[in-house]
Amino acid sequence: MKQICVIGVGYVGIVTGACFADLGNKVIALDVNEKRVENLKKGIMPIYEPGLEELVRRNVNAGRLSFTTNYAEALKGTEFAFIAVGTPSGVNGEADLQYVASAAKSIAEHMAAPLVIINKSTVPIGTGDWVADIVKREQKKQVDFAVVSCPEFLREGSAIGDFMQPHRTVIGSFDREAANKVAQLHLPLRAPIVITDLRTAEMIKYASNAFLATKISFINEIAEICEAYGADVKEVAAGMGYDARIGRHFLDAGLGWGGSCFPKDVLALAYMAEDKDLNPRILNTVMEVNYDRRKSAVRWTEELLGGSLKGKTIGLLGLAFKPNTDDMRDAPSIDIAQELLEDGASVRGYDPVAMEVAAPLLPAVKMYTDPYDMAKGCDALIVVTEWNEFKQLDLEKVKSLLKTPVIFDGRNIYDPAIMKNYGFNYRGIGRGFNGK
Ligand code: NAD
Ligand code: UDX
Repeated sequence: MKQICVIGVGYVGIVTGACFADLGNKVIALDVNEKRVENLKKGIMPIYEPGLEELVRRNVNAGRLSFTTNYAEALKGTEFAFIAVGTPSGVNGEADLQYVASAAKSIAEHMAAPLVIINKSTVPIGTGDWVADIVKREQKKQVDFAVVSCPEFLREGSAIGDFMQPHRTVIGSFDREAANKVAQLHLPLRAPIVITDLRTAEMIKYASNAFLATKISFINEIAEICEAYGADVKEVAAGMGYDARIGRHFLDAGLGWGGSCFPKDVLALAYMAEDKDLNPRILNTVMEVNYDRRKSAVRWTEELLGGSLKGKTIGLLGLAFKPNTDDMRDAPSIDIAQELLEDGASVRGYDPVAMEVAAPLLPAVKMYTDPYDMAKGCDALIVVTEWNEFKQLDLEKVKSLLKTPVIFDGRNIYDPAIMKNYGFNYRGIGRGFNGK
C-alpha cells in the first residue's frame, strides 16, 4: 500500500484517485473547488461517469479514499502527488498552464518530505522541467523531489475500464529511481510500461490524441466521397479495419470529434509546431475537416427539409459530446444549435444525462425531459449523440409525432433501409446507398 495524493478531482482526478484506492492504496484527493469537495464528502459526484459513484463509495467506506481542500493535509505522509488539473486552450490555442503552475506552487509550499510529483494533466512539451523549476523556486525549505510525466489516456464514458485496463502506461523522467517507483505503482494494471524521458512522454500524449483525431477526420472525408459515389462508409470502415495495420477503432464517420481533449490538444500541438516556425499542415487540415462536419450537418438537414430552415422546429437527440458522459466541452450540439438558430429555426434538445450541464450553455434551446415529447411537432430530428436509448426508440411512434418525418442521423445509428421502410426522409453520413 502506498499513500497517494491526487490534485484536481475533475474527470481524470476523481477516476485516478478512486481507481488507485481500489488497487489498495491510501488516496487523498484534493481540489480547490470547495463545493466539489464538500459534495464528494457527501457522496455526490462532480461528473457523470458510469460506475464511478459505486467505486468512490466503496473506497471511502473502506477508509482508502478521502477528500480535502487542504494541501498540507493532502501531502502529509504522501509519497506520490498526481497533478490532474485542467489545461484548457489559451487565447491563441496554446495550453493554458495557470492551474498546473498554481498546483506546483502549492505543492512546493506545503511539501514536508521527499515527494514524487507526477504530471497526469496533458501539458506542452517541456512543462515537466518548468514544473520542477517552480517547485524548486517556491519551496520554503529544500526537500528532495522528482517530476515524472505519466499522461492519462482514459476516455470519458468508459474511464474506469480504461484506467484499470490501459493499453500502456507511459512514464517519463530523467530520474530513473522515481520512474521505477511510478512504474511499481502501475504494476497491478499489468499493461506494458514505456519508460522514457520527460519530453518524450509529454509528446506521446499529444501525438496519440492527434493521431486518433486524424483517423476520424480521415474517415469523415472518405464518408463524403462514399456519399458522392454511392458507397457505404460503415462497410468501408469494417473492410479497412480487418487490416491489422489500420484497425477498426476510431473509424466511425459522423459529426466528428469534440470533447475536452481532442479539440484543445490538436490545437495546442499545432501551436507548439508553429511556435518553432514549423507548418503543421496535417493538424490544421484535421481540424478544418472536423469543424466543417458541424456546418454540413445543418446544410444537409436544410436540404432534407426542402431548402429552408426558417420557421422550422428541429429537435436534437443528444447534447453531450459523446454518450455516457455529461461533458459538454466543445460538443458538436453547441455549434449545430447555434447555426440552426442563425438560420431561423427553433431548436429543441434532449439528452439522457447532460441536460443540467447543457441548459446554461444553450439558453435559446428548449429542453425536454423525454425524447417523444421533444419530437412532437418537430419538422426534423438530428441525432447528435449516439446514446443507446436512441437506438431503441419506437420509430413508428416518433414518425407519428413528427410534423414531417425527417431524420438526419449524424452518428449513423440507424439502418437506412429500415428507415426507408418506416417512411422516413432519412439521411445518414457517408451512406451513399441511403436505403435505395
Ligand atoms: P476538469 O476540468 O474536469 O478538472 C480539473 C479540476 O482541477 C477541477 O475540479 C478544478 O477545480 C481543479 N483545480 C484547478 N486548479 C487547481 C489547483 N491549483 N489545485 C487543486 N485543484 C485544482 O479537467 P479534466 O477533464 O479532468 O482534465 C484534467 C487534465 O487531464 C487535463 O490536462 C486534460 O487534458 C487531461 N486529460 C483529460 C481527459 C478527459 O477525458 N477529461 C483524458 C486524458 C487526459
Ligand atoms: C479522448 C481519447 O480517446 C483519450 O485517450 C484521451 O485520454 C482523452 O480524449 P474522449 O474525448 O473521452 O477520449 O472520447 P473518445 O471516445 O476518444 O471520443 C472523442 C471524440 O471523437 C468524440 O467526440 C467522439 O464522438 C468522436 N469519435 C470517436 C468519432 O467521431 N468517431 C470515432 O470513431 C471515435
